Amino acid sequence: MASVIFAVGSVYGNSTSVAEECAEVLRSADHEAEIYSNATLDDLLAHPQAVLIICTSTTGQGELPDNIYALVSELREQFPLMPERRYGVIALGDSSYDTFADAGRQCDELLQELQAQRIGEVLYIDACETADPEGVAVEWMKTWMQAL
Ligand SMILES: Cc1cc2nc3c(=O)[nH]c(=O)nc-3n(C[C@H](O)[C@H](O)[C@H](O)COP(=O)(O)O)c2cc1C
Repeated sequence: MASVIFAVGSVYGNSTSVAEECAEVLRSADHEAEIYSNATLDDLLAHPQAVLIICTSTTGQGELPDNIYALVSELREQFPLMPERRYGVIALGDSSYDTFADAGRQCDELLQELQAQRIGEVLYIDACETADPEGVAVEWMKTWMQAL
């Protein structure tokens, strides 16, 4: 059984509901899953064994939503290397923007710089391609969690 924490970045609620549905998939497979809507570095450090899932949309022109900005700022400023940390990324966006899913991409790059170990590939969910981001994420999660 793994412990998973979701750090959510959401403006309109899509990423939040994606994280909620994915957490249910994990729980139904007997994993622990907790969702943070305003995650901080302290939250991460309090769960050293937990697998981190960044689940974020992109807003503005390739920007991070406010509710994940604090965590990313702390990671950038304090730069805590975390070679033991495993993580995944669910990046929501809209490919009609040049900055498609940039927030998720930025988070992935940052975690790579911090030496964290990504499980699987980043899931990109394009609002131009699906009106059911939760359904796409649930299907992905069923496969992704086999690597936990
Ligand atoms: C004002 C605004 C700006 C956006 N900017 C971007 C962007 O720069 N890049 C991108 O990929 N998607 C962008 N999007 C699309 C959102 O990321 C997408 O709709 C996502 O599903 C929203 O998820 P949320 O409800 O969790 O915030 C933007 C949407 C809005 C309304």
